[in-house]
Amino acid sequence: MEKEMRTPVIAGNWKMNKTPYEAVALANELKNLIKAPRCQVVICPPFLDIPVLFSELNGSCIKMGAQNCHFEEKGAFTGEVSVKMLKESGCSHVIIGHSERRQYFNETDETVNLKIKAAVNGNLTAIVCVGETLEERESEKTEEVIKRQIEGALKDIDELSFAKIIIAYEPIWAIGTGKTAQAAEADVVCGYIRELIAKKYTKQLARTTRILYGGSMNSANAKELLEQYNIDGGLIGGASLKAGNFAEIVSAADSI
Ligand code: 13P
Repeated sequence: MEKEMRTPVIAGNWKMNKTPYEAVALANELKNLIKAPRCQVVICPPFLDIPVLFSELNGSCIKMGAQNCHFEEKGAFTGEVSVKMLKESGCSHVIIGHSERRQYFNETDETVNLKIKAAVNGNLTAIVCVGETLEERESEKTEEVIKRQIEGALKDIDELSFAKIIIAYEPIWAIGTGKTAQAAEADVVCGYIRELIAKKYTKQLARTTRILYGGSMNSANAKELLEQYNIDGGLIGGASLKAGNFAEIVSAADSI
């Protein structure tokens, strides 16, 4: 089965939570609970936590990602962080185009595209987020929005770059609201993303690309979501801040 060829990814997006001290404590709990997962486990803490966690996670099976990066290599961009800085500080992944960044920090399809290119060139795996608002869903614009975001994000990106690209479908109305998309409806949109990739590139690439679901995923609903054919993992916010909950989601992924 093709789904089995795609190693699931369980990624925790800590958002703006956990000071460096708190981050170390949470990372230690996670290390104790998650020993030898079959899926890939990534945590994405705030920038300032990354250097401390680098040594803390050294030798563990938990990988680290950032929540954003700049697309330029260096220069006069006050307050920004480059891919090279993240790489040197121990990151293997970076979340790009999260809806909160699109909503509050003027992230556009164009900057998302530039950031993906920068991440891939700098050898970081980009976790590229797309998703519709409630209003867009209710007016049946989900596919139109996802198509625009996917096409914008992947403009001039070649097939080879997909070795370093993961897509995350995060319906905005499901983020932090406790409202999860029904597993079947999330699967339909992830399947649509796969179709878009097949059309733009090849069927083979669409079959091997990993597509995650994010939005109120927790230990109670994870298994049903992760069992869906087109869902290859989760991008988890709130439930990634409690070691026990996050570890249970990792176990759910491993049980499929
Ligand atoms: P929640 O799991 O808190 O809904 O957040 C999802 C998310 O935005 C992950 O990036």
